[in-house]
Amino acid sequence: MSFDLSVFSNKNIILAVTGGIAAYKSAILVRRLKDYGFNVRVVMTKGAQSFVTPLTFQALSGNSVHTELLDPEAEAGMGHIELARWADLILVAPASCNTIAKFATGLADDLLSTLYLATKAPVWVAPAMNQQMWAAKATQRNLNTLVEDGVHVIMPGAGSQACGDVGLGRMPEPEDLAEQVKNYFHQAQRAIAEKFGLLAGKRVVITAGPTREAIDPVRYISNHSTGKMGFAIAAACYSAGAKVTLLAGPVSLETPNGVRRINVSSAIKMLDESMHQLEEGCDIFIATAAVADYRVAEVSEHKIKKAGDELNVSLVKNPDIVATIAQQDKRPFMVGFAAETRNVEEYAAGKLVAKKLDMIACNDVSRADIGFASDQNAMVVFFAEQYQMEKRDLEKASKQDIAQQLVEAIHDALHHEIEPV
Ligand code: C5P
Repeated sequence: MSFDLSVFSNKNIILAVTGGIAAYKSAILVRRLKDYGFNVRVVMTKGAQSFVTPLTFQALSGNSVHTELLDPEAEAGMGHIELARWADLILVAPASCNTIAKFATGLADDLLSTLYLATKAPVWVAPAMNQQMWAAKATQRNLNTLVEDGVHVIMPGAGSQACGDVGLGRMPEPEDLAEQVKNYFHQAQRAIAEKFGLLAGKRVVITAGPTREAIDPVRYISNHSTGKMGFAIAAACYSAGAKVTLLAGPVSLETPNGVRRINVSSAIKMLDESMHQLEEGCDIFIATAAVADYRVAEVSEHKIKKAGDELNVSLVKNPDIVATIAQQDKRPFMVGFAAETRNVEEYAAGKLVAKKLDMIACNDVSRADIGFASDQNAMVVFFAEQYQMEKRDLEKASKQDIAQQLVEAIHDALHHEIEPV
């Protein structure tokens, strides 16, 4: 099972390659963008195909390459309008002076120039050309027009050129370009978080409270969990801009404002509902529920009558909800909890790995002043090794304060800087 650390797995980049010797650098650019987790589709002009084959880009991007405006086969898959809508950013690298001129005048005689007119996504161009062509009045005039039209022009570097000249016109290195794209999306995410909350737009599912495992129609096995921590986290996630669904075991707590609550009873029901929520769409799964480890093997249809001095009830193991969700193909960011009475940190770190979680928050329930029925809590948070994030000590505070700090920890893990592998 591999952890998906890709912060940008929901961001779509069209890399448009035009005719120029720097096109070979764009092959590496695809790799670097993919390393950051972006979805990449490549569009090539006719000129570009004289330098590098579409097959190269197909293999590197994992998607078929778009070359024709009116190819019936391509249009049946993803037509130019869909492609224009799919993109979160169009990066033209290298951008030839011909393409720049087309953009500046609004010509639409091939796929790329049509996309340019049809998209609402930001467009970046990285011009690369002979220094004389770069300096030409027409090129500079066209670039000024592009800037006025809102296109971001990435300045070429100076140095020796493939044609033997020395001067301005070299395409920046693929690593630099990929980093600029990454920084752009990081900044955009930060701006969204500042305006709409740390978990703006995220779909969060939280399990909370105990589960109740029936013995017969009137008796059950359960535990002392009150659900307070899970409910506080649900409220904090909602305040942070998330869409929150709370799968609540039997507890007597009021549903936090703005939160969708679904009451469940047994562990099996909680798992069923969790899987259902996963299908509906879930970005973050937070398992605070104190799920009964065992359930009664055969629930009696009728009330068991008092008879004899002993009653034997056979129990079978319940499924592990959080571990089951963590094993799914499109798994959300997984947060677990561990309540321990000894070796708290050691056991929690073990569960983080065993259950394939991204983050685990653990507390010492042997302490009388925190945990279960208390209004206060103190926790230590661990992140999966891949995040390379230090553990965090959340000092004793109200469950609301702790919930807020957990939201911050989730946000930080989701948006931490990752280096390309
Ligand atoms: O293994 P343990 O019960 O200590 O692990 C605690 C974590 O696992 C909590 O996040 C809890 O909600 C989750 N869990 C679960 N399903 C189970 C048991 C625990 O989701 N059957």
